[in-house]
Amino acid sequence: MSAPRTLILFAHPALEKSRVQKSLLTAAEGLDHVTVHDLYEAYPDFQIDVAREQELAAAHDRIVLQHPFYWYSTPAILKEWFDTVLQYGWAYGQSGTALHGKTLASVISAGGPVEAYGPGGYNTYPIVEFLKPFEQTARLCGMTYAEPLIFHGCVSCTLDDLESWNTTYRNWLNHASA
Ligand SMILES: Cc1cc2nc3c(=O)[nH]c(=O)nc-3n(C[C@H](O)[C@H](O)[C@H](O)COP(=O)(O)O)c2cc1C
Repeated sequence: MSAPRTLILFAHPALEKSRVQKSLLTAAEGLDHVTVHDLYEAYPDFQIDVAREQELAAAHDRIVLQHPFYWYSTPAILKEWFDTVLQYGWAYGQSGTALHGKTLASVISAGGPVEAYGPGGYNTYPIVEFLKPFEQTARLCGMTYAEPLIFHGCVSCTLDDLESWNTTYRNWLNHASA
């Protein structure tokens, strides 16, 4: 079984300052089945081309949200993408079947270590609890929500960590169903 055609919706508002996401992007380079779409680069003014985005999404089997974790969520442009692209009658509602059968997945880098997320940790809840809006959005749009890929402890990660995360991400992207 071949790996699914994958659209990476990439969001980092300050890529020039990025260490982790910039490194992770290199893992996705050169894969024939993967389209990397940098939303801040495409829409610096936040004026999302809805028709273009819908066409792109429809042409792929798996949509990956790749971003740093910002305030327990995504950078702002990804929220704008959801708000404008996932229209009634296209993504949901009676005739809104464009995304049916596709997969949605999150690939996130988080400053906080694993132990910060959960009872007793300073973030209180397991990180997947913060991702429930994406899980439910996928469900409403008839998509499968894949288990997220999360890289923790980005504030203090080493070059070895970055290298091993790239290998993990590339293998994950090459996996048939993710
Ligand atoms: C505005 C902002 C909000 C952040 N919010 C969180 C957060 O809610 N949880 C967390 O674990 N890390 C948080 N961080 C840390 C980033 O997730 C982390 O620095 C980033 O994933 C590292 O990737 P980069 O090197 O590509 O920027 C935040 C960082 C910034 C700048």
